[in-house]
Amino acid sequence: NWTMQNFIDTEIKRIRTLVGPTAEVIGAVSGGVDSTVGAKLMKEAIGDRFHAIYVDNGLMRKNETVTVKKTLDEGLGINLTVVDAGDEFLGNLKGITDPEKKRKIIGNTFIHVFERVSEEIKPKDGSKIEFLLQGTLYPDVIESISFKGPSQTIKTHHNVGGLLEDMKLKLIEPLRELFKDEVRALGKILGIPDELVWRHPFPGPGIGIRVLGEVTPSQVKIAREADYIFIEEIKAHGLYNNISQAFAALLPVKSVGVVGDQRTYEQVIALRAIETTDFMTADWYVFEAAFLKKVASRIVNEVDGVARVTYDITSKPPATVEWE
Ligand code: XMP
Repeated sequence: NWTMQNFIDTEIKRIRTLVGPTAEVIGAVSGGVDSTVGAKLMKEAIGDRFHAIYVDNGLMRKNETVTVKKTLDEGLGINLTVVDAGDEFLGNLKGITDPEKKRKIIGNTFIHVFERVSEEIKPKDGSKIEFLLQGTLYPDVIESISFKGPSQTIKTHHNVGGLLEDMKLKLIEPLRELFKDEVRALGKILGIPDELVWRHPFPGPGIGIRVLGEVTPSQVKIAREADYIFIEEIKAHGLYNNISQAFAALLPVKSVGVVGDQRTYEQVIALRAIETTDFMTADWYVFEAAFLKKVASRIVNEVDGVARVTYDITSKPPATVEWE
C-alpha cells in the first residue's frame, strides 16, 4: 500500500526530528491495536530509546500478559517492560462497588504504577525521558474538540493528563490523523499479527468493570474464565470478525440451579456481543440458538461459581456496551 508506506516514512522522520538524537520516549501498551502500532512506529524510528510499559493490573483477560510479551517483545522487538501490579490494583479496589469509583481507582493506580516504573527504567547514562507516546486516533481528537460523546460524559475513560503534568512530559501522537481502519492497515504493513490487528477493543479498567460490584480475585477469575470460553467459541464458529465487541460480565446476584440431583445456588453470567461502527450506538448480535446453547452449557459446566447464563439483548442506547 503506497500511501501507507509513505505515511510510515514521513512519520518516522517526523518522530526522529521531534525526539532528537538522545531523548527517550515512554508509552503504555495494552495489547490492543492502537498502542501496538504506535509502539512499533516508535521502535522503527528510535529503536530502544522507546520504552514500552505494559501494566498487568490483574484485570486482564486470560493469557493476555503472556501474549503481549510474546508479540511485542519477542515478535516485534519492542523494548518492553512488563509490570505485575495485580495485587496493588486489587488491594486498592477492596470494598469498592461504585463503577465510577472503580474506574477512578484503576486510573489513579495505573498512573502511580506507571510513574514508578518510568523512574525505575530511567536511562542511567543521563539521557532523559522527555516524551510520552499516546495512541490517540482522529475520532478521539474530534471528540475532544467538538463534542463529548456519550461514553465520555457517562463514563470516565482513561486519561493521561495526570502523567503529562506530574512527569513533565511532552506528548507524541503519531496516529492522531488516522481512523481505525487506517491504523489496522498500518499495523499490517508494520508486521503486526492479524490476530492483534483485528482484536476487539478492551476497556482500560478491564474485567474490573465486568465484575459488577466488588472486585475480588475470585470474582475476577470467574468472569475471566467465562469470557475466555465465550470468545473461544466465537472464534471457533468463525464469528469473531462479524462482531465488534464481545465479553462476559459477572452479575452480583445468586440464582438457583441443579447439577445432578444437587441444588446449587450460585452467580449469573451475562454475555454481551454487539455490532457497531462507532461505539456511540450499537446493536446486539444475533447468534444462532445452537451457539448460545453451547456457550451456556460450557460456562455452567466448566466455570465454578456460575449457575446460570443470560444473553444481553439491549441496544445502545438506552444501554451502554459495558454493564458498568
Ligand atoms: P460504553 O459502555 O460507554 O462503551 O457504551 C463504549 C466503548 O468504550 C469502552 N469503554 C471504556 N474504555 N475505559 C476505556 O478505555 C473505560 O472506562 C471504558 N468504558 C467503556 C467499551 O468497552 C466500548 O468499547
